[in-house]
Amino acid sequence: MFEAFDIVNLLIFLIPTYIANSSPVVLGGGKPLDLGKKFSDGQRMLGDGKTIRGFVGGTLAGTVAGGIVAIVYHLPFFSNPQTQFITGFLLAFGTLFGDAAGSFIKRRSKTAPGRPFILDSISFLFFALLFAYPLTIGTLYALPNLIFFLILTVIIHPLTNLLANKAGLKNVPW
Ligand code: CTP
Ligand code: MG
Repeated sequence: MFEAFDIVNLLIFLIPTYIANSSPVVLGGGKPLDLGKKFSDGQRMLGDGKTIRGFVGGTLAGTVAGGIVAIVYHLPFFSNPQTQFITGFLLAFGTLFGDAAGSFIKRRSKTAPGRPFILDSISFLFFALLFAYPLTIGTLYALPNLIFFLILTVIIHPLTNLLANKAGLKNVPW
């Protein structure tokens, strides 16, 4: 089924995404990204769950993780470690962007922060892959690989939330 690359490489490719998505629960807090502003529907733009520190911290943590990976393990999707490193940054930045975009839609549906939402596990993956697309070779985004990314993410994301909850970092297990 997997034509060009094996599962381990696909998983390693997404490390910056998963670090970027999970670290704000530790690194976040303080001023909200929407600066408290409301949208035309009277609800918050993004809400207090999306903070500037979480956005910047998550992007940096994902980028650093991707940088360490680029040093110790060369993924076959990139011609050199530099491209792999920049892609890690794009994945991390796309993850936080997608996370915020998901919250924007979540608020429009009047779902409160902390409540589970269908896009919670999907929006950050979508934007991470989109932002990283310019630097990746075409076959990486072959359909079987994209399906694998999706399945992996809908398993890993709830799992990290559960772990964060058990570790006392998060009030809710989702
Ligand atoms: N977080 C943050 N800044 C971000 C993203 C997350 O500070 N940009 C922190 C917040 O403390 C947040 C926690 O990580 O409560 C968990 O993130 P998430 O589940 O994505 O946010 P929710 O609180 O569920 O908010 P929303 O409904 O808007 O997704
Ligand atoms: Mg949440």
